[in-house]
Amino acid sequence: IEKKPIIVAIDGPAASGKSTTAKILAGRLGYTYIDTGAMYRSVTLKVIREGLLDEIRKDETRIAELLRTITIGFQGERVLLDGEDVSEAIRENRVSREVSFISSLKPVRDKLRELQQEMGRKRGIVMDGRDIGTVIFPDAELKIFLIADPAERAKRRHAELLLKAGGAAVPSVDELEEEIKQRDRDDEQRTHAPLKRHPDAVLLDTSNMTIDEQVNVVYDLVNKIVEQQ
Ligand code: DC
Repeated sequence: IEKKPIIVAIDGPAASGKSTTAKILAGRLGYTYIDTGAMYRSVTLKVIREGLLDEIRKDETRIAELLRTITIGFQGERVLLDGEDVSEAIRENRVSREVSFISSLKPVRDKLRELQQEMGRKRGIVMDGRDIGTVIFPDAELKIFLIADPAERAKRRHAELLLKAGGAAVPSVDELEEEIKQRDRDDEQRTHAPLKRHPDAVLLDTSNMTIDEQVNVVYDLVNKIVEQQ
């Protein structure tokens, strides 16, 4: 039987485990993983590098020129901004601080929607973000909405940062929890494509689940859908 590859849309708040789950799932399925957060981060990095942040804050139409020429792509797990590998640079704090603002702008969402829908045309993809099931691929065969307790998410982020810090200071769990809650509010309350569960999306609370368990649940759902086609 011919097994048709599907689109898996995974949405949810910051640090809910989306990207880890999506990455491992894509590997097991032989699908392509697309991290749309990395795309918003890339636009943000470019705005910062070009020193346009203040100008755009005053007049959002000033971002149009930058969007006209930007290229964002993936090479395996590496993120390419205008051909340059920015996988590490887009995780810097200065980017994290401004990405909610940049991703709230309509011209940015219009541009990235177009790019993401184009990337999905070949199917066999796992895409994660905030609006994949609601806006980008409302017809995706499988839509997942991942959530987890803010306190649990702060603990996970803390462990992750400690691992990368190599002895350097990292924010406390409490500080991280505040940051996470603020980002949830920003993402849920914005006008364009706010974070929201599609009514058909499967709700998965990962507060008490291991990564393996999360991946297995979604993997089984994919297989059930593929078998039924
Ligand atoms: O997943 P992340 O934390 O790397 O995403 C960074 C920011 O990008 C997040 O605060 C909201 C925004 N984002 C978005 O608005 N829409 C998406 N599909 C993905 C991310």
